[in-house]
Amino acid sequence: MKILLTGASGLLGTDVFIAFLKAGYEIIRASHSPREGFVSEDISTEEGIKNLSNLSWDAIIHTAAARDPDECEKDKNIAYSLNVVAAEELAKAAALKSAKYFFISTDYVFPGTIPPYTEESPTCAVNYYGQTKIEAERRILSICKNACILRVPILYGINAGLKASALLYSSLKTIDSKHETFIENVIARYPTYTGDAANALLFLLKNNACGIYHFSGQDKLTKYHVVKIIAECLQKEHLHIKPLNTPPNNAAKRPLDSHLDTTKIFSLGLQKPLTFAKRIKKLLTQDSVHSKFSTALILIQREKFS
Ligand SMILES: NC(=O)c1ccc[n+]([C@@H]2O[C@H](COP(=O)([O-])OP(=O)(O)OC[C@H]3O[C@@H](n4cnc5c(N)ncnc54)[C@H](OP(=O)(O)O)[C@@H]3O)[C@@H](O)[C@H]2O)c1
Repeated sequence: MKILLTGASGLLGTDVFIAFLKAGYEIIRASHSPREGFVSEDISTEEGIKNLSNLSWDAIIHTAAARDPDECEKDKNIAYSLNVVAAEELAKAAALKSAKYFFISTDYVFPGTIPPYTEESPTCAVNYYGQTKIEAERRILSICKNACILRVPILYGINAGLKASALLYSSLKTIDSKHETFIENVIARYPTYTGDAANALLFLLKNNACGIYHFSGQDKLTKYHVVKIIAECLQKEHLHIKPLNTPPNNAAKRPLDSHLDTTKIFSLGLQKPLTFAKRIKKLLTQDSVHSKFSTALILIQREKFS
């Protein structure tokens, strides 16, 4: 089976490529910026969609998106064209080829007031990013009846480079700062490892799954907890890091607790992921990852003094 993978250079796409290649699939990697080994197209243009549609593929995993909620709030046109129009146009291309369509959505489709949310819970987003994903889900399912949508919460990973993983990179920056730093301690997050999310997609493909599925890390953590856990795993001092117990004042509102109920996917037989602390510790036992964390800390030092 030949799979077109959009967003293949991104945080999630990088691990999807690794997992699917290992499982023996042939992958066409698509990104926006030109890169060796990638097809580069702008999916916010008709031409970009046409060029990707004209390639030969039997399935598409569409991970490319405008994924920063604050940026989506500031530039709604770009958010709409990438997250809604491109997703819909690729669904039309998949339908024409009778190809399987996988779409990545978010826990931000929910308001975060009465968690946990099942796949059947009514959606209602508190920000524009979430609204674009709700609209994309609706259009995709009406075009491709056997499409599969995977909703995931905040992702972290290392294979696309630490800077691509905002959660890890900003945590390292905070750990490195020797000054008193207040970190948001209000919004419940469920950090999800990109390698686990990629495996969940592979599992859904192998099970010929259709419709909506939730996948999520199992720990309920605030950003403050995340930074503390990473500092402890790295055996770094963290007394300068303090909890900020007021909601963040970002351009985009965040749901307070958009916990995804994952019963559906786990009852199909998917293995539960490691806890956040165990995953970070496991990553740190890999020499390459340890050196990536060390390099990031050195780069952060250089950024501070340049
Ligand atoms: N990151 C999270 O915490 C999170 C949480 C929940 C859901 N999600 C969803 O998961 C999916 C993957 O997110 P991610 O974090 O991996 O995103 P990411 O790291 O920001 O990567 C975005 C990808 O989309 C490509 N792209 C951007 N604009 C494009 C354009 N105009 N034309 C073609 N390709 C374009 C980028 O290519 P270049 O590298 O060449 O620019 C890159 O490969 C998204 O659907 C996102 O909404 C993410």
